Amino acid sequence: MKLARAININDLRKMAKARLPRMVFDYIDGGADDEVTLKHSVSRFDDYQMTWRSLLDVSHIDTSTTIMGQDTTLPFFISPTASTRLFHPAKGELAMAGAAEKAGVIYACSTLASHTLEDIAKATSGPKWVQIYVWRDKELVRNFLARAKEAGFTGCILTVDLPVPGNRERDPRNQFSLPPRPSLSLARQTITKPRWAWDLVSGGKIEVANFKELARVQDQGGLVGFVNSQFSRGVTWSDVEWMREFWGPGFAIKGISRGEDVKRAIDVGADTVWVSNHGGRQLDTSVPVIDLLPEIVEAVGGRADIIADGGVRRGSHVAKLLMRGATGVALGRASLYGLGAGGEAGVLRALTIMEDELRRTMALLGATKISELDPNLMRAPLQ
Ligand SMILES: Cc1cc2nc3c(=O)[nH]c(=O)nc-3n(C[C@H](O)[C@H](O)[C@H](O)COP(=O)(O)O)c2cc1C
Repeated sequence: MKLARAININDLRKMAKARLPRMVFDYIDGGADDEVTLKHSVSRFDDYQMTWRSLLDVSHIDTSTTIMGQDTTLPFFISPTASTRLFHPAKGELAMAGAAEKAGVIYACSTLASHTLEDIAKATSGPKWVQIYVWRDKELVRNFLARAKEAGFTGCILTVDLPVPGNRERDPRNQFSLPPRPSLSLARQTITKPRWAWDLVSGGKIEVANFKELARVQDQGGLVGFVNSQFSRGVTWSDVEWMREFWGPGFAIKGISRGEDVKRAIDVGADTVWVSNHGGRQLDTSVPVIDLLPEIVEAVGGRADIIADGGVRRGSHVAKLLMRGATGVALGRASLYGLGAGGEAGVLRALTIMEDELRRTMALLGATKISELDPNLMRAPLQ
């Protein structure tokens, strides 16, 4: 099916499902436990209803804004996602970064990227941020961040909602492994996806590209082994300060869900608080982000930017998060469905769909710029 025939993100999801082996599609599409948070994060947007201002001149809509010090033409951007070559073995992160630059949005790269920071930097001159977890080995983190700075990444995102990996039940059911290992199950699932299989074989092994020094750990235990060897369950707020100091301004803490943690994040020097439940992949039955925002906004008290993500599949979802007080909105699966559907062109299609929908929503609301996305235009449901 041609990408232009995708008229919404759900169409791209269907195309990605048709192109990818089941275990790969489910790795993107799935969530933790009973996937309650995953489903609820999307459906909760429908419970927020909008009114509009009539007879205003909406012939020019300006969607530009500034997120964590970065000027951007759109209030949404690409969220960090691990091992992106899995979803598009030929170009992975390079396709994401290329599409982001063309669409004029920020690209945020995962610590667990399958291309090096330097290669990603070569593929785009657009704005880019890098994401990191809190690891046992500080030296490794320091080197990674220094390389990111050198390569031109201007924002650092520390993800704190993954002390242990969530229980994603689709993965063991599909005998999913990362990197994919030859098995009967993989053969069965790829037999009808020759394009993906060819790209995988010709593109070389998928690895945690920025930590080649840990290749042996990866060879033994794959991504999960890597995560378990590096992630520390004993990390607390005091371990974050050195990282903020090392990086400097442009530091976000991602995966916050409570006002009290907002205060701690700001105390350790974060200039952006990122409200997220990791797309429903970690703690199931956690609260949808749109419901959390008032508590977060109050705790922030104008001292930091707020990024929100989770379940965003429509331009109107972006508008609703902004109306609830977010400064910027991150897209996880919306861009990954595009990638799976058609590489860089697919991601660009996803970003274009989101932009068109946001512009239309703003015109219908009578809002010509982001600052006019007034909370009074929306009614929150009774809790
Ligand atoms: C396949 C996949 C991989 C992800 N990998 C990472 C990661 O490496 N680091 C991170 O901070 N978040 C990661 N996330 C979470 C996203 O950055 C984002 O918070 C989440 O996907 C937002 O929800 P949405 O997918 O409903 O938009 C991942 C999400 C998905 C779907």
